[in-house]
Amino acid sequence: MPSVEGLPARRAALQMLDAVLRRGLTLDAAAGQSRGLAPNDQGLAIAIAGEALRRLPDLDDWIDSATRNRLPDDSKARMVLRLALAQKVGLGTPEHALVATALPLVDGGPRRLVHGVLGTLLRKGLPQSDAPRLPDAVELRWRTAWGDEAVEAARRQIATRPALDLSFADDAAAKAFADEHDGKSLAPHHVRLASSSVTELPGFEGGGWWVQDLAASIPARLIPPEARDVLDLCAAPGGKTMQLAAAGHTVTALDSAQSRLARLRENLDRTGLQAELVAADALGWKPKRHYDAILLDAPCSATGTFRRHPEVLYRARPSIIRENAALQAKLIRRAAGFLKPGGTLVYSVCSLEHEEGEEIVAAFLNDHPGFSIEPAMELPAGIPVSPEGWVRILPGMLDAEGGLDGFFVARLVRVPD
Ligand SMILES: C[S@@+](CC[C@H](N)C(=O)[O-])C[C@H]1O[C@@H](n2cnc3c(N)ncnc32)[C@H](O)[C@@H]1O
Repeated sequence: MPSVEGLPARRAALQMLDAVLRRGLTLDAAAGQSRGLAPNDQGLAIAIAGEALRRLPDLDDWIDSATRNRLPDDSKARMVLRLALAQKVGLGTPEHALVATALPLVDGGPRRLVHGVLGTLLRKGLPQSDAPRLPDAVELRWRTAWGDEAVEAARRQIATRPALDLSFADDAAAKAFADEHDGKSLAPHHVRLASSSVTELPGFEGGGWWVQDLAASIPARLIPPEARDVLDLCAAPGGKTMQLAAAGHTVTALDSAQSRLARLRENLDRTGLQAELVAADALGWKPKRHYDAILLDAPCSATGTFRRHPEVLYRARPSIIRENAALQAKLIRRAAGFLKPGGTLVYSVCSLEHEEGEEIVAAFLNDHPGFSIEPAMELPAGIPVSPEGWVRILPGMLDAEGGLDGFFVARLVRVPD
């Protein structure tokens, strides 16, 4: 059979989509499994699978409108149709190319059905949407928790590529870089650029900056400058460790995942910043001393990162959110025991679920009367502090500037003895 141009990328995209939706992998992990693919094909496959994940509910509705019997969710025919339609609406792929690359993926299977559904939908025309629906369960959860506006903003955000945020060790260097590269600084040490390839940006090897969403830079901004000895618990791959080290703190960075700590080590080497690294489970680790300040950036569902990782919306099932919350409740209590009297504990999660944010901190304060909230004042302009004193970043905030990842951050202070 003659080879079809672009087929390897589509085959890889099919494997990726299947690995994410049926096996619960992240898109990065799924992409890591497609070895031997040319870099261009790899990039195209990730773009196609990512586009399908950004628009899945809409794609499924269109597919269902053109079939008499509903195709099973994880059937190959549905997966192939999702990928083909995602290319049409998200990537502008010409129709002949998407049909020619879809049909060989179902060779020996429902080729006629896929051909028929594609033909019907392409003839009818697909509505162009710049605000695709999120999965029903997520929309329901977020509408209840955060309201209609946040859901509408999240729909708009999932359709667009977020800007690229850089954190700089040196604030003057950030300002100079912003001037030189048409960037915008929304906070000290920060530059926002229209998206581009990270390794091609000037200064990457020199290590003056690292990629970090502006929202993700907020927790380390809340560590008091005068805190000397700072523990970064759950530290890898180290965006916040680098901020803390650049701010002049003596940093101990702990993480339980060796492979992620290796990335933290590489990041420190590249940026020339210093931290003591500890590979340990925070729940079993016994520190030799107490700390002036602790940053606990806890493992979570990561639903706040849906703009770059749309698959989180499918991976974060309620049972996973509950499991995360149980771990977070243990971690915050454990961290509190490592703090000096008068010390500061910053708790954060890149999650849009209040079970992992507000509820964790409220329950902790309820049974730790020796701790209180210290409202965050050092925030980038336009980010509000909640009446409780914590920071809840929602879709829609700083929209005019390009938005932010969803985050929750609270600063707690241990009452001095
Ligand atoms: C949200 S990520 C941290 C991101 C990091 N703070 C940064 O800014 O780059 C959560 C981290 O917690 C680590 N982790 C999960 N459970 C842990 C535990 N019991 N003890 C220590 N680290 C843990 C994971 O390996 C993961 O690297």
